[in-house]
Amino acid sequence: MNTKAEPVTVSRRRFITQVMGGIGATIAAILGLPLSRYVAYPATSEAATNWALAGPVDGFNIGEMRQVAIEPTYDAPLAIEKGKRAAYVVKKADGTFDCFYMHCTHAGCPVRRSSGPQRFFSPCHGGVFDKEGRVLAGPPPRPLDRYDYKVEGGVLYLGEVYQVDERLERVG
Ligand code: FES
Repeated sequence: MNTKAEPVTVSRRRFITQVMGGIGATIAAILGLPLSRYVAYPATSEAATNWALAGPVDGFNIGEMRQVAIEPTYDAPLAIEKGKRAAYVVKKADGTFDCFYMHCTHAGCPVRRSSGPQRFFSPCHGGVFDKEGRVLAGPPPRPLDRYDYKVEGGVLYLGEVYQVDERLERVG
């Protein structure tokens, strides 16, 4: 009696099993691709850092606190990274650079250069930083964050943002 219905039930079960298997294989492929890329190219490699162009090193004067527009040199995945961003760069007498993230370490307001003494200040709650990013006044809990940088072919590039402690030593 039910012999005609049985093949339909088996066929549906098989169909559902195959569809579920296909979905599982697709999910595994989607998740597996980035994982295999990570294994092939570890995060510590040079290629993992997203460098942004900050300008020719000759364009920076020693001791000057300069605001620069930085431009990604990579295919930025987030819309916020695609356009130009700003950073503060100070070229030191020994030819090295201090490259500051522009956002205050208290609540993230953009910091500004003071027009008088060489300082940064945060307009939101009165945070003040010296020219090396140390906290001079106000609520910021730590010095200004900094960018990794490199010089290649006479051009300054900024990389990852990192934190420093009161001795200006990298944290983490
Ligand atoms: S955000 Fe800078 S002092 Fe609060």
